[in-house]
Amino acid sequence: MKPRVLVSREVFDETLSLLAAGCEVESNQADRKYSPEELAARLADKEGAVVSTSDRIDAALLDRCPRLKVVSNVGVGFNNIDVAACTARGIMATNTPGVLTDSVADLAFGLIIAGCRRMSEAERYLRDGQWKGNYLKQMLGVDVHGATLGIVGMGRIGQAVARRALGFDMRILYHNRTRLDAATEARYGARHCGKDELLREADVVLLLMPYAPENHHFIGARELALMKPSAVLVNIARGGIVDDAALIAALSEQRIFAAALDVYENEPQLDPGFLDLKNVVLVPHIGSASEPTRRAMANTAARNCVVALTGGVPPDLLNPEAVPR
Ligand code: 8YV
Repeated sequence: MKPRVLVSREVFDETLSLLAAGCEVESNQADRKYSPEELAARLADKEGAVVSTSDRIDAALLDRCPRLKVVSNVGVGFNNIDVAACTARGIMATNTPGVLTDSVADLAFGLIIAGCRRMSEAERYLRDGQWKGNYLKQMLGVDVHGATLGIVGMGRIGQAVARRALGFDMRILYHNRTRLDAATEARYGARHCGKDELLREADVVLLLMPYAPENHHFIGARELALMKPSAVLVNIARGGIVDDAALIAALSEQRIFAAALDVYENEPQLDPGFLDLKNVVLVPHIGSASEPTRRAMANTAARNCVVALTGGVPPDLLNPEAVPR
């Protein structure tokens, strides 16, 4: 009998075909988000789960899925999955690194420019019929070229943004758990520094680290107070890394110049405080949302799942300890 797989959200037909070659597939092409209860019930008889980053895979759910062998996340960030709980139950967990690097870096750069040059505010001004003429001091922003970019989280995506930043003659500071080797630092002209130094010196602070409980509210009132009044904060990592209430306070008092955000605490619910502010660019978690990239993510997740269920070691395995010996 073929292993059974649940695909918790809509994917491409091609993704379903990849899975159907080796598995019996139950899919959710209607894309209705399952409640935790329904997700657990649908997974109860499955060997494989292809899930989205908005599905919570925790110990309580896993306890209700005795047959599960693999949880395959469609996304690089995996803070939605309790990997230790998977490992303890011999369940492999996988993600989709690599395939989304450049798309996320592109959007990060778009947010940098949009925040510095007030693009959302300027568009609203125009759409609201307020544009009556061109004035020397109209919609003045801060420059991107030549600015100091402080990247927190200098992994694949951080380095892809650094490559783009070189084309804008930006100076690069970075803060990372592990320092890059000298050759990589030299390639980007990047200088490793402490968190507070980065916050004090950067004209643009870009958050790209994975979410973990230790970095909950990594940017709060204290950190925002360290930033320059002309600085722009960009979060394309995860909600919860920034204290949204503290950011709203700093933006409304113009203690920093602007923010540009792709992710939020409690998304898709947004703190309504953001909506009244002119100096914030808001997009709905679309970092990886180009057609080819989302296709590659879904197909990568499908392949990881099939490999795990056919006795192999999936390429993007997060917990090698879970592989059956
Ligand atoms: C989402 C992301 O996965 O990869 C990640 O970690 O946050 C995004 O790419 C995407 O929204 C798919 O649900």
